[in-house]
Amino acid sequence: MLNAQSLARLRVEPGARVLDIGCGMGQLTRAIARAAGSTGGVVGVERSRAQIDEGRRQANASGETKLVDVRAGDAGDPPLRDEEWGTFDIVHARFVLEHVADPARVLQAMVRAARPGGRIVVEDDDHDLLRLYPAVPEFEAAWRAYMHAYVAVGNDPMIGRKLPALLAGAGATPVANDWPFFGACQGSDTFAVIVSNCRRIMVGARDGVIAHGGLSTEAFDAALRAYDRWSRLPGAAYWYCTCWAEGIRPAG
Ligand SMILES: C[S@@+](CC[C@H](N)C(=O)[O-])C[C@H]1O[C@@H](n2cnc3c(N)ncnc32)[C@H](O)[C@@H]1O
Repeated sequence: MLNAQSLARLRVEPGARVLDIGCGMGQLTRAIARAAGSTGGVVGVERSRAQIDEGRRQANASGETKLVDVRAGDAGDPPLRDEEWGTFDIVHARFVLEHVADPARVLQAMVRAARPGGRIVVEDDDHDLLRLYPAVPEFEAAWRAYMHAYVAVGNDPMIGRKLPALLAGAGATPVANDWPFFGACQGSDTFAVIVSNCRRIMVGARDGVIAHGGLSTEAFDAALRAYDRWSRLPGAAYWYCTCWAEGIRPAG
């Protein structure tokens, strides 16, 4: 559901050359490529072979096999040819910086890949932004443990707020920041999807949260039960935003 918002903020023009770092299975990357059209070109970089293979399967199934040039490689050292550096109109990364050991290095590579005057667009999580109402103390404790676990394995759960600083540190000129809303309340069309997405994330992280977040198995499972009860309340509201920022590579 976020893809439409992310795509709108990217403002991809026909003919644009775009580099998408950490493109995952490439659903958003393919949408970017459709917006860039046949005169544009989109390169995706992804380190996970499983993500690349599943993305290729999905692209083939949609008849979009050649839409994106997906390359296996690391975000900090993207596999670009010499002549490609400094040529991209937009260099983009979404939900990647929170997972890398050295986000400053990734931003430096992204700025280097952009043409002078080109845009570097980053979107990432700041997990501290989640609010549930009515409050669910058991789930809030589990969410804090989830953030602790993020830190314990070398990720940054609060990278969102740092995006403009990271852009500036890498030599780009930050020009905009925003909080794309990703929330809903009971009764809205998207509530069930958003609530189950969060639940799926927590269930997927269960072992890590228990091992690294300082939460017992019993407390984790009780948190999920409390979350499920909360989700059935008539006035339940889920508030979350991602963090989004844009910088420009200075000319010259
Ligand atoms: C949460 S997914 C986001 C995928 C996509 N950007 C999106 O927004 O839909 C993060 C992706 O970044 C990739 N990734 C993480 N660290 C990376 C690195 N150092 N180099 C390349 N890809 C990386 C992961 O394999 C994963 O596919």
